Amino acid sequence: MHPRPLNAHVSSVGAIDWDRRLFDSLIPLPDGTSYNAYLVRSEGRTALLDTVDPSKRSVLFANLEDVERLDYLIAHHAEQDHSGLIPEVLARFPEAVLVCSPKAKGMLVDHVGAAEDRIKTVADGETLALGGLTFEFIHTPWVHWPETMVSYLRESKILFSCDFFGSHAAQSELFVCDESLIGLAAKRYFGEIMMPFRTAIQKNLDRLAKLDIGMIAPSHGPVYAEPGSILAAYRDWVSETPKNEVVVPYISMHGSTAMMVDRLVCRLAGHGVRVQPFNLDDIDIGKLAAALVDAATLVVGTPAVHIGPHPRVASVVYLANALRPKLKFVGILGSYGWGHKITDTIAAMTPNLKAELLAPVMSRGLPRQAELAAVEALADAIAARHAALGLI
Ligand code: FEO
Repeated sequence: MHPRPLNAHVSSVGAIDWDRRLFDSLIPLPDGTSYNAYLVRSEGRTALLDTVDPSKRSVLFANLEDVERLDYLIAHHAEQDHSGLIPEVLARFPEAVLVCSPKAKGMLVDHVGAAEDRIKTVADGETLALGGLTFEFIHTPWVHWPETMVSYLRESKILFSCDFFGSHAAQSELFVCDESLIGLAAKRYFGEIMMPFRTAIQKNLDRLAKLDIGMIAPSHGPVYAEPGSILAAYRDWVSETPKNEVVVPYISMHGSTAMMVDRLVCRLAGHGVRVQPFNLDDIDIGKLAAALVDAATLVVGTPAVHIGPHPRVASVVYLANALRPKLKFVGILGSYGWGHKITDTIAAMTPNLKAELLAPVMSRGLPRQAELAAVEALADAIAARHAALGLI
């Protein structure tokens, strides 16, 4: 995509990746993504904000073709999808100074081989003049690495937020034009990489609230010309109050666990609880991560493989523990052939989930009336707990 103006001083010079389908060899990208970089010019002075994923180097350098001199390359984050081309940009512009947070300095040297003697570190709250414009740098640790910072272009009221407020969405429009579509993409993105750091993000939101933000320009996805909705969404997502929702990742080898999940889903729905089952035969973990952002309860459905949970279930349990959602309750149901240690195994895998473990329901073979009644009792207990929290 060619350079596109945000205003008279700022252009988007990054790349859209329509075809990428997996990030970090983990996160599905059903709608592709973008690696946004921005060029800021004022009174003959020029700054580039971040680079792009190295796979898109030709796009970035084509967009910089008419740039004769670069004064500053500002790196908000050391992860390679934004920093990977820093050495090449510094080589193309030998006069440019690389600006980053003190913590990012060593990371940029280690991760991408940035030249140490080209780096200027900036303190939290420090400003930098560029012609008639002023950047204010705000350290925002743990969105989602420890070195991350954002910059605020005072005169334009633009917040350059890097991963913060980002979304994996390839679209031809520079600005958000379908708020509900991008809202879902941003929620997925939050669940996938930001959710473990809710407390830090809450503090960073508080700090940003002091700024008069007219526009948010992230490093993935479209620019927010009206940032109110994404700021409100983040406030909601980082809050400790869950919603009346149950997420049920499950797998079934011979149908027993599926019967139990069906009974659970029907009973919960009858209580007015929103329930989202995810059959792990074919799972989009981005959708699961998005569902975990609001859920009050997780119920894991698994048959025994040998004596432990099915490996695909174990993988999702591991991920849920790593993402640290705001769950209040965890349930386990499933079936086994001759014996199992599923409950102990899952409990040992989830030390980060500060949630009450509800009485598990396990069936030896096909669930009969007693086991299905126990599943209904589990659903009743979940609904009662949601009601006690005022969620229903
Ligand atoms: Fe988009 Fe943390 O990199």
